[in-house]
Amino acid sequence: MLFITYVSCLIFRHMWISYLSICSATVWEKFRSQTEAERDQFLSGLFPVHFDWSVSSESFKVEGGWTEHGKGETIWDRFSHEGHVFENQTTDLACDSYHKVDYDVYLLRGMMAPNYQFSISWARIFSTGHKESLIEKGVAYYDKMIDTLLQSGIEPTVTLHHWDLPQALQDSGGWENDSIVEAFKEFSDFCFSHYGDRVKTWITFGSPWVVSNLGYGTGEHPPRVKDPIIASYKVTHNILKSHAEAWHIYNDNYRNLQGGKVGIALNSDWAEPRNPSSDQDVAAAERYLNFMLGWFARPIFVDGDYSTVLKEQIEKKKDLCGKELARLPVFTEAEKQRIQGTADFFGLNHHTSRLISESLNSCDAGPNNVGDFQTHIDPTWPPTASDQIQSVPWGLRRLLNYISLEYTSITKVPIYITGNGMPTEYSGDVFNDTERVDYLKAYINEAMKAVLLDEIDVQRFTVQSLMDGFEGPQGYSQRFGLHYVYFEGADRPRTPKASAYYYSKVIERNGFAETAAKAKMETYENKIEITRLPSLPPSEIPSKSKVVWEKFSPQTKFERQLYHYGTFPEGFHWGVS
Ligand SMILES: *[C@@H]1O[C@H](CO)[C@@H](O)[C@H](O)[C@H]1NC(C)=O
Ligand SMILES: *[C@@H]1O[C@H](CO)[C@@H](O)[C@H](O)[C@H]1NC(C)=O
Ligand SMILES: *[C@@H]1O[C@H](CO)[C@@H](O)[C@H](O)[C@H]1NC(C)=O
Repeated sequence: MLFITYVSCLIFRHMWISYLSICSATVWEKFRSQTEAERDQFLSGLFPVHFDWSVSSESFKVEGGWTEHGKGETIWDRFSHEGHVFENQTTDLACDSYHKVDYDVYLLRGMMAPNYQFSISWARIFSTGHKESLIEKGVAYYDKMIDTLLQSGIEPTVTLHHWDLPQALQDSGGWENDSIVEAFKEFSDFCFSHYGDRVKTWITFGSPWVVSNLGYGTGEHPPRVKDPIIASYKVTHNILKSHAEAWHIYNDNYRNLQGGKVGIALNSDWAEPRNPSSDQDVAAAERYLNFMLGWFARPIFVDGDYSTVLKEQIEKKKDLCGKELARLPVFTEAEKQRIQGTADFFGLNHHTSRLISESLNSCDAGPNNVGDFQTHIDPTWPPTASDQIQSVPWGLRRLLNYISLEYTSITKVPIYITGNGMPTEYSGDVFNDTERVDYLKAYINEAMKAVLLDEIDVQRFTVQSLMDGFEGPQGYSQRFGLHYVYFEGADRPRTPKASAYYYSKVIERNGFAETAAKAKMETYENKIEITRLPSLPPSEIPSKSKVVWEKFSPQTKFERQLYHYGTFPEGFHWGVS
């Protein structure tokens, strides 16, 4: 029965490319009979051999150096200087990563991370957003980052744009101005031509929903535009076009030469109907996903256009309310052609889930009112330092099933999880972050269920973030890092948390099965156990070095290469000869 609904969903998709979506209902159907115990049961096992592990950062959250070498002002610099951030905190110094390439790569080496996903600050390369304002030293910063990573055997994944628009572009309308598509094209062309010999995975945009919705809808993020009716939709429209143009530039001019991949990283919650046996709630959850993920994913991964659910809902509300609650721009046929199929992978940023119920009849603006849904949180879900994020690991598996049915079964591209993580409080037990360990363990396990049990083509898992940083309006008050950053210290020292050791263990084992040799870094302090060497008679042959071999030969390559964080004892002498 399950199999039949699955297949019919797929066949139906191919026959009717713009029909009423039933794929999410299929996912709920598939999981409806699961008990909570079955749902939460831990799966021991390994990921496929070529599964990729990554950890991420975003430029404005970590770099600092906000005017260094002529870097242009970004909208986040402006926002923080205008005092819109917790305790007037700013992006000025952040983690000082602009001066700490070696240190940051050292952290990655310590974790044995095979991949690092970071974003480029557009204004560090083109201070005004245009090529005439090119800054050589800004370009060189990312060269150094990429080269240092590669020298350490770490693959770079580069996000072209993660929220920090040059203020100069915002001054002429930012993402609301159609001319930005040309500007983004020029910027992405430059990045492909300059870095593409070494960078093989490109993400055009990271979590663009946040830009459209919080930057231009609610105004909680810069540029603080509060126009959910027109601006939000216009911004998404221009981001979709910009994404497509960047992909085409790569496809036409660089793909043959460089052999990389270009995709996009979309953020979405999972939407669980509050009452799964209510058709109204199921339909409302479907709309939630269409307004959040589908808004971007449908044009790129299906048919170049917004979904029928989105279009019809917006029309319906306009008729009902006698006024426009959302102005959805229209793609020309040529534009649809240009946008459809412009991704080599489906990047997913995912942190939490929502319970959704139907909520009709509001004539206010904003996605919930336009979409006729209301969001709820189950009070039993473990909280985090952000009231927006609760730990709901099973939501990831369902979302991956949904994405597979709704999008990647059409385009046949792999899914990369490009961001998953949670914030903890600024102070407290900052190093022994057991909540983060539990969260990651459970989310990674659900990704593994999607791969092993549901046979979904997920090829990568990325933990957000490498280190604590500037988290938007919350400033430094929420810590997302696997590494703790001491922000009171001018040098911004970083220290691995328990979660860094935990994640490196998952990477080493490629999952959870106890197949690898009992790791020495079981304890998060990563102290190599100092056991007394057996006392040997003085004549022991060939030599005492045997003891050393015995001690270290069971070490895996991973353990051997693992960096030992820490300092030498007081009084240790350093020399040069
Ligand atoms: C933030 O800056 C404003 C304006 O300079 C000032 O009035 C306010 O007291 C500052 N707030 C904090 C928490 O420092
Ligand atoms: C849009 O951008 C163009 C090019 O930068 C500029 O000339 C124009 O004034 C901008 N439009 C608005 C409304 O800001
Ligand atoms: C970390 O915290 C957990 C739970 O509070 C505790 O059981 C464990 O012993 C702690 N580990 C260390 C190394 O302090």
